[in-house]
Amino acid sequence: MKKIEINKIYNQNCIDGMSSIPKNKIDLVITDPPFAINFKAKKANYNRTSSRVLSGYNEIKPEDYYDFTFSWMTEVYRILKDSGSMYVFSGWNNLKDILRALDDVGFVTINHIIWKYQFGVVTKKKFVTSHYHCLYVCKDDKKRKFFPFSRFKKEDKTKDGRSLHYKDKEDVWDIKREYWTGDEKTPTKLPSELIQKILEYSSEKKDIVLDPFIGSGQVAVVSKSLGRRYLGFEIVPDYYKFAKKRLDKDLYRIKKSK
Ligand SMILES: C[S@@+](CC[C@H](N)C(=O)[O-])C[C@H]1O[C@@H](n2cnc3c(N)ncnc32)[C@H](O)[C@@H]1O
Repeated sequence: MKKIEINKIYNQNCIDGMSSIPKNKIDLVITDPPFAINFKAKKANYNRTSSRVLSGYNEIKPEDYYDFTFSWMTEVYRILKDSGSMYVFSGWNNLKDILRALDDVGFVTINHIIWKYQFGVVTKKKFVTSHYHCLYVCKDDKKRKFFPFSRFKKEDKTKDGRSLHYKDKEDVWDIKREYWTGDEKTPTKLPSELIQKILEYSSEKKDIVLDPFIGSGQVAVVSKSLGRRYLGFEIVPDYYKFAKKRLDKDLYRIKKSK
């Protein structure tokens, strides 16, 4: 079995990769697993110049989604510390499998967060999807780390006099997607503001933050910039190379060469 080192990402199936990590090692998992929809066929909907979007997004078939989800979550549960927690992102179409697998594996659900973003796809016969679900879960609610005043003090106020730390802790997060016009990118990525918020509430410096589905590398890049240790897996070679380049060169965005 290959030894997994910290502050590295691996071009590997995460279920195999995580099986090489000893139990109770990871402080925090932030992850946005692949969807069970034909994402590539819908690329035109995403209003992007496709030549700048690295190809090769790895899909899971809808009928395999629960088993796949149960397998990777079982590994996360084993390697997560008792004081650790996990934030899993999901669109509404896969949500039932994600919720069922979280329960079946034994995670305790702390919050069901809604991430509200801007998107810009106009629909004629239905409502515009402008949110994502984020399940905040842990192994042991009594031992779980959480730093309630890591971002705002009790006395901090919004411009209209409301408590800022209360507002920041509401479970609907209004955070904009980043578009990175003209730069290299993968089809989906989490905004850095979102990752930073999770890191500040649920981790400390030097903690080990894992993303089993690293994509463009966002979770590792933001974790590194905030003094956390990181670990990640990505199955698509081009995405892995892109994420590794960002980490090795400490670059947030990379201009697409012509
Ligand atoms: C929704 S994307 C993650 C995007 C990422 N959060 C970001 O900010 O860039 C899911 C990623 O999981 C990868 N993937 C799918 N199956 C995998 C597996 N079994 N092991 C590792 N990576 C996998 C896909 O190639 C894709 O890049």
